[in-house]
Amino acid sequence: MIYLTEPLNTSHNKAKFNCGQKLLDTYIHQQAKQDVKRHLAACFVFADERNEVKGYFTLSSASIDQELIPENIKNKLPNSYTNIPVTLLGRLAVDKSIKGKGVGEKLLLDALKRCLDASSTIGSLAVVVDPIDENAKKFYLKYGFIYLPDTAKMFLAMKTIAEIFS
Ligand SMILES: CC(C)(COP(=O)(O)OP(=O)(O)OC[C@H]1O[C@@H](n2cnc3c(N)ncnc32)[C@H](O)[C@@H]1OP(=O)(O)O)[C@@H](O)C(=O)NCCC(=O)NCCS
Repeated sequence: MIYLTEPLNTSHNKAKFNCGQKLLDTYIHQQAKQDVKRHLAACFVFADERNEVKGYFTLSSASIDQELIPENIKNKLPNSYTNIPVTLLGRLAVDKSIKGKGVGEKLLLDALKRCLDASSTIGSLAVVVDPIDENAKKFYLKYGFIYLPDTAKMFLAMKTIAEIFS
């Protein structure tokens, strides 16, 4: 699979990006570049022929308490691993002008493939997302993410992601 996105760089125009969620718009306008510079997040963008950003997502290292992990996966983990390494898909957004045309799905697959590829270099049991609202939850549910109990997070095992791309 060839990646749809590329790492955010200074040639990308992000000022007009508008997904309808102020937090996600402000993030790409004002904060993403700084987070990348500080190695807090990797930011990948989908841009048009004029280099206008039309979609983006961010990835970071994260960990979750073993207690939160679904029983069928937890059973196979050593008890001594209290914090389990995962990859956080922190944000994912598509510009309003191209919503409903399949770009969100393509961005999600692009993000999952990047997570899978990276997991052969740095271990990660799953991809975790922090859905911004009920609609975002429905979007992720559609792709097999499951709720993690007592958190606002959702989870997709790397094993499942590997099967998607096998
Ligand atoms: C959620 C979002 C990324 C979807 O992008 P998109 O390009 O419009 O989505 P797609 O056209 O690729 O749709 C893919 C599938 O998800 C479904 N879908 C899209 N948005 C959805 C939503 N808000 N709720 C439920 N399902 C949704 C579509 O119906 C489609 O399924 P189908 O093929 O069975 O019809 C986009 O609407 C967005 O940026 N929203 C604001 C930010 C946001 O909520 N981000 C999510 C994570 S924080």
